Amino acid sequence: MKNILVKNVKDSENKNVTLNGWVYNTRSSGKIGFLMLRDGTGIIQCIVVKNEVKSHVFEQFKKLTQESSITVNGIIVENLKAPGGYELLLKNLKIHQLVEGYPVTPKEHGTEFLMKNRHLWIRSKRQYSILKIRHEIIKATRDFFDMNDFTLVDTPIFTSNACEGTTTLFETEYFGETAYLSQSGQLYGEANALAFGRQYNFGPTFRAEKSKTRRHLTEFWMVEPEIAYCELDGNIEWAEKLINFIIERVINERKLELSILGRDVEDLKRFRGKFPRISYTEAVELLKDGGFDFEWGGDFGSPEETFIAQKFDKPVVVHRFPSAIKAFYMKRDEDNDNVVLGMDILAPEGYGEIVGGAQREDDINLLLKRIEEENLPQNEFEWYLDLRRYGSVPHSGFGMGIERVVAWLCKLPHVRETIAYPRMIQTLRP
Ligand code: 4AD
Ligand code: MG
Repeated sequence: MKNILVKNVKDSENKNVTLNGWVYNTRSSGKIGFLMLRDGTGIIQCIVVKNEVKSHVFEQFKKLTQESSITVNGIIVENLKAPGGYELLLKNLKIHQLVEGYPVTPKEHGTEFLMKNRHLWIRSKRQYSILKIRHEIIKATRDFFDMNDFTLVDTPIFTSNACEGTTTLFETEYFGETAYLSQSGQLYGEANALAFGRQYNFGPTFRAEKSKTRRHLTEFWMVEPEIAYCELDGNIEWAEKLINFIIERVINERKLELSILGRDVEDLKRFRGKFPRISYTEAVELLKDGGFDFEWGGDFGSPEETFIAQKFDKPVVVHRFPSAIKAFYMKRDEDNDNVVLGMDILAPEGYGEIVGGAQREDDINLLLKRIEEENLPQNEFEWYLDLRRYGSVPHSGFGMGIERVVAWLCKLPHVRETIAYPRMIQTLRP
């Protein structure tokens, strides 16, 4: 008797097998019982026929409740009407635990209740599908960089300086010193790029975001490639290729999960290809033409990003932002001193910024000036300045927020469903 996983049942047609899992739901019509069993790789329908099993087996089936843990045994048969195309003709059943009062029932629950029960909610079909797609996106991301000669170099989470401005830093005591949780591994990524040519770092990043929005978490995962001998245009191309690769992979590998979420694959196909590119200045024109009261120099908020993205059917790249609203490390455009060689990619359908990146300032004097203007402590950046002293080259990189990409590709109303245990202003548990 072989122990198998639900995802592999098609390889065991007409064979006697054993499956371990949990009861998703049950129903019975007199002499026939239907049991949906989930094992973490999928859900399979099990049929229990009263006259074909020992009487205690049918009695046990009738006792089953949602999320009871069980082992079942029987024959796999094809049934095109069953979800997944196969079902199990159940012969034997072992109950490990009979559950009473499982809180997350198939009825509608409010968000607050579900968030409080997040540790259980992730077992439900929809949440499970989202997290499977998240896994696929992460795997595709890593495969993409690995295939393209990038080396994964991990960057620290405890840091002594800010990368993305001082307003969203989380502080913590560090043996008598103050440390900050990393907002971005980029500065270390730049050091790595001068050692490895192409590097990526990938980890959790932290921002004390005071705004409560459907796009912001306080702890989120960011992948950050950093590339030596690469300018702004090359940087945009890398991001475009990465996003295309991810979409392709999700379409090919996660059709079932996309359909459970009601995400139309045709929409995803439409997002592929070459992304339109517009300058910040052109974006401001679009806003003004659209009736926005917006002045050149301002930062885009959610309404502006959504409006700009709606003008295109693919992700749109916005480049060359006013230097005043962007981070100290972005390189000035040689043709226009007021803008930097930064770029953001805005996702369609109102999902906002999924990528932020730039060509980095490689002139040490301009960099020093920017550090001073931003009131950053120069001594904390001495090691970073070394990168401009020893073998400085044009280099670029970007950060892609995993949760934003998951929200977009799954078409979710809120980023809180994109990660198993979201961290937000008032969410620290479970
Ligand atoms: O645009 P950001 O702030 O860029 C950086 O941190 C650069 N240092 C990256 C780099 O060039 N290596 O953040 C990058 C991306 C955003 O485009 C967004 O997708 C995501 O990270 N992001 C967030 N996702 C969820 N919650 C938040 N609070 C986020 N803040 C940024
Ligand atoms: Mg940004």
